[in-house]
Amino acid sequence: MRKPIIAGNWKMYKTPNESVAFIETFLPLIAGHDRDEILIFPPFTSLAAAIIAADDHNLRAGAQNMHWLNEGPYTGEISPIMLMSIGCRHVLLGHSEQRLYFNETDERVNLKLKAAVNHGLTPIVCVGETLTEREDGRTEETIRRQIRIALRNISAAEAHRLVVAYEPVWAIGTGSTATPDIAEAAHRIVRHELADCCSEQTAEATRILYGGSVKPENISDLMAQPNIDGALVGGASLVPETFARIVHYT
Ligand code: PGA
Repeated sequence: MRKPIIAGNWKMYKTPNESVAFIETFLPLIAGHDRDEILIFPPFTSLAAAIIAADDHNLRAGAQNMHWLNEGPYTGEISPIMLMSIGCRHVLLGHSEQRLYFNETDERVNLKLKAAVNHGLTPIVCVGETLTEREDGRTEETIRRQIRIALRNISAAEAHRLVVAYEPVWAIGTGSTATPDIAEAAHRIVRHELADCCSEQTAEATRILYGGSVKPENISDLMAQPNIDGALVGGASLVPETFARIVHYT
């Protein structure tokens, strides 16, 4: 019922030429693959080229962030209508690196989520606890707060496109993946909070991706969990052959 999503978050890697070269190598490796939705998130400067290179194939390219307003005096920002105008239909919101290094807040994630759904973009809202929060026993509280504030004043109808990525901060780029059990437990918390904030139906329909050191070696065990509906892959999505092995998990 929930079609899985395998998404590659390229962070601040790949020029337009490198992005197109990746896609040209990658497309034949995923030809005909329809079991999962396959997404990549290149940096802004590569996004238009990636969208054109992926055109008409089973691959979509989305943005790593956006502002919530349509236009204005906000140097360095990109708006939802700018994304829509180049054929972009997916956007990551609230990634932990934005929260950690650029002071992204739950309140701004909420504004961005509202704008994304209003414009018909599919938002992937990232949540997850830091190592300190986990060690202090505040994992559940943190995840619930991030979801609750992100979804403030979002109706069940508006949330129908929502995707959530659970990415424990201690697992991102560290090589230490959450065990399938730890990830599954967190995904159940996300789903409960979605039911509380929106509706049972939203909770059942929303795809919840796991992120944090996903590799070809651990993807299958993660995907075997009932509440894990896909993956948001950083480092291992930068090489076409490696990312294709993740897409073909068993
Ligand atoms: P990682 O990154 O796979 O390199 O840990 C995941 C992410 O930040 O989305």
